[in-house]
Amino acid sequence: MTDDERNDPSIAADGTNDDLTAEELADYQLGGETGGEIGTETGPGCDPFFVSKKSAAVFKHSLLKSYFPKFAGKAGSTEVDKRLVYVDTHAGPGEYEDGTPGSPLLIAKNVTGMLGASGAAHRDIACMFVEARRSHHQHLKAVLTQNMPPEARWQARHGKASKHLDEALAFAGDAPLFMFIDPYGLGPTFDEVVRVLKRPRAGRGSKTEILLNFISMAFSRAGGFLNTDQPTAQQATTLDRLDLVLGGAWWRDVYLAASTGGQAVSKLVSEYARLVCEAVNKRAQPGTPQRCEATLIPVWNTLEQDTPVYWLVHFTFHPQGKWCIAEAAAKANSTWRQANHQLALTKRLAREADTGQEDLFSGTLVPQITEEEHSRAEEELQKRWIATITENIKRLTQTRPRLDVCRDMDVIFGTTLGLADGKHLRRAWDQLAQQGLVERRETSKPIEKQSIRRV
Ligand SMILES: C[S@@+](CC[C@H](N)C(=O)[O-])C[C@H]1O[C@@H](n2cnc3c(N)ncnc32)[C@H](O)[C@@H]1O
Repeated sequence: MTDDERNDPSIAADGTNDDLTAEELADYQLGGETGGEIGTETGPGCDPFFVSKKSAAVFKHSLLKSYFPKFAGKAGSTEVDKRLVYVDTHAGPGEYEDGTPGSPLLIAKNVTGMLGASGAAHRDIACMFVEARRSHHQHLKAVLTQNMPPEARWQARHGKASKHLDEALAFAGDAPLFMFIDPYGLGPTFDEVVRVLKRPRAGRGSKTEILLNFISMAFSRAGGFLNTDQPTAQQATTLDRLDLVLGGAWWRDVYLAASTGGQAVSKLVSEYARLVCEAVNKRAQPGTPQRCEATLIPVWNTLEQDTPVYWLVHFTFHPQGKWCIAEAAAKANSTWRQANHQLALTKRLAREADTGQEDLFSGTLVPQITEEEHSRAEEELQKRWIATITENIKRLTQTRPRLDVCRDMDVIFGTTLGLADGKHLRRAWDQLAQQGLVERRETSKPIEKQSIRRV
């Protein structure tokens, strides 16, 4: 046991107790089946979250996997030593019990790939991982020791994220920073998030980004304590904690006015993201013209859920950061739909094998489809997205002669944001150009650097 660990009240004196503190337990229970990622427990002390990966985690990891290299590529390109920093504040054990990589292992693969690369692709990614649960931390360290290249710089800290925030910011120094905040429950305070985004940095621009997991169930359950006549001490503490996390008591009226917890959370997350950006931009340092912008990405476990299990909130200062995260979300969504389809097919085959009968009546309609039907449904989806984007551009260009693809992407994509990507926009644009409604796009220039001009 290190001195650090000995002084940590969350760690038992013998260093072996893996129990969570009452506060951590409450946080964990709030998230409950957070991502619906509770699986079958395989033993005492095991964290069901990490037995096997559920669909929502497929999305989260797919997004991280495709977005982080983009961040590293762009943010690191103009740094003298091409150094940048990744901080995972709620790192988990590094991998699932079945060996599927968790966020730390995914990033370790990036570090390896980019350290070895020569020329423009080379990046020196220093990493810091924080994990509160002792057994996870131990596993994490072992996984990283095994998978990080020997020359890589990384640290795995045991304890609460907030206790290691100062250290994480000092670790990042002036390097570009990508922070992944992936709690079970309510997560960091509003001020902590604003502080990270506003960290002073010598160098060009505010190269700080956060990807934050906003767990619907945690906020919905915690907010529900407002409806309790006499909240218990723990419930009262949770309500106070919500004030700290959301940046004030404003959320209480919003919560009470909503008809369901899920609807309340959708409103809370968008207002929260707006308030964070406002707080960051209001007190912007002189000489930093860039503004912090947020993108909200809803994540579901199954196609049938009407409320997202969580929202991934991405904060960036980079003009094309929003574009890149939406592209990554579209890719993650496609991976997610495929994983969901495969899972449903596998379950169906297993049931059929069990019963010896074709499983015609159980389950819901969507997951029962075959490979061929899945491909056809995908094509249909994409056609609908292109039609939506086409209509959006048509409508928008009636009142505006020019649309900036990056700046106006929210309205151009509308409901297809995070589902459709650049290739769907290209198809919509080309159709409208053929109809003589807008000018043709430049085929040799990235679409996100162009503007759509009315003819
Ligand atoms: C959702 S899991 C993390 C998953 C991981 N980021 C991944 O993608 O593989 C949340 C983790 O946060 C840990 N945790 C809970 N409270 C924490 C805190 N205050 N600080 C740091 N870690 C915490 C939990 O033990 C758990 O391992």
